[in-house]
Amino acid sequence: MADVVTMEKIVSLCRRRGFVFPASEIYGGLGSSYDYGHYGVLLKENVKARWLEAMVRERDDIVALDSSIILHPRVWEASGHAGGFADPLVDCRTCKQRFRADQLAESSCGRKPSKRPGETPDCDLTEPRQFNLMFETRVGPVEDTGSKVFLRPETAQGIFINFKNVAQLARRKLPFGIAQIGKSFRNEITPGNFIFRTLEFEQMEMEFFVPPAEADDWYRYWIDERRDWYLRLGVRASHLRVRPHDADELSHYSSATSDIEYLYPIGWSELEGIANRGDFDLTAHTEASGTKLEWVDSQSGERYAPHVIEPAAGVNRSMLAFLCDAYDEEVVAERERTVLRLHPLIAPVKAAVLPLIGRDAEMAGRARRLYEELRRVASVEYDDNAQIGRRYRRQDEIGTPFAFTIDEQTLADDTITIRDRDSLAQERISIARGREHLLDLLEQPWRSPKPD
Ligand code: GAP
Repeated sequence: MADVVTMEKIVSLCRRRGFVFPASEIYGGLGSSYDYGHYGVLLKENVKARWLEAMVRERDDIVALDSSIILHPRVWEASGHAGGFADPLVDCRTCKQRFRADQLAESSCGRKPSKRPGETPDCDLTEPRQFNLMFETRVGPVEDTGSKVFLRPETAQGIFINFKNVAQLARRKLPFGIAQIGKSFRNEITPGNFIFRTLEFEQMEMEFFVPPAEADDWYRYWIDERRDWYLRLGVRASHLRVRPHDADELSHYSSATSDIEYLYPIGWSELEGIANRGDFDLTAHTEASGTKLEWVDSQSGERYAPHVIEPAAGVNRSMLAFLCDAYDEEVVAERERTVLRLHPLIAPVKAAVLPLIGRDAEMAGRARRLYEELRRVASVEYDDNAQIGRRYRRQDEIGTPFAFTIDEQTLADDTITIRDRDSLAQERISIARGREHLLDLLEQPWRSPKPD
């Protein structure tokens, strides 16, 4: 079956099922900002948990950090963000819209019928101007220049400025990494595609400090490792690719960068970047702060600034990729169903517990008891409202991989059915094995049944 997903369908499902809402909606919304409802929160939390598991819990060489969002303003001078973290923008004096100068070919002019900016004789574009993406705010009640601070545009700098603290206390040898998940903020002026590009977003970044001679090898290692992470979580290989940056695309700090791109409905776009940052950051902060951010080799006594390989992923952008990859429609028994074929480990709800007849007190009681047992080990949902078919469809749309149904036979022989979201196969097991069975199911390898 052809891939049926469009961005409109994803936005509509996210709205309908309470994953994502437009931010400040009752005031007319705020551009490029979104709020996350119950299932959106659970999905995002699962993405972050899987990342922490792969990057920290299952490794000996990476430790965690949670640094401040507001850092000393000199951090951003040293990092190059105060001077260089800017997009070139042009304004159109006719339609009053603003465009990224480097994306005119993909932008639409504000007037109808829509053309590319600069394409009609009426378009009157300004020269490109640099626009810094950092949000400014103030510390304290007095608005003088000394109080100006910024919301961080990346979590990475909080890691670099803590290098000495962690290196002294983490009892790790080089190479080792520091991982952080947290919110970042960018004053993105071009309207995003849903949650692909927003003003505030969460990043999952890891700075891996290595001896300079090993930097190239580790760069390639992290590209493979990060690509495998998406594959392990069920993203189809045909929808993932690695794209090395051309020299003119590289950020000011990077000597090599590769993007892991996903084939979103808007086309191939960056999902995560892996950069070889060299010693740019540690050296810059050493010079600016006067604190030596260096490594002392315990054998040779040699002192040097380690080089850094950085896999930098976005939680929201990953969530969008997982949703797009999972979205499917099919006709079953002459009825259409929409289903999110999410990997069970990232699905917001792992199992639904459903009494076949909700108003049957005995069935409902048995179902409720099973639900209370299962929720101690996983995110599960109890639902006795509406016809069973509608309840299944609701669970399909939020991506719940398993449904446990309590029916008349349960009352006779203590067995329940387990329905598989993807194959729709039903299996009967003893209710006493429900919890153990769910844990077994969650440990099984999973592959998307969508064509690769
Ligand atoms: N420390 C390096 C760094 O921040 P980046 O490529 O600018 O690199 C890393 O950002 C990841 O953060 C991106 O691959 C993307 O997933 C996410 N990201 C960046 N800007 C974003 C935005 N405005 N909205 C949503 N996600 C964003």
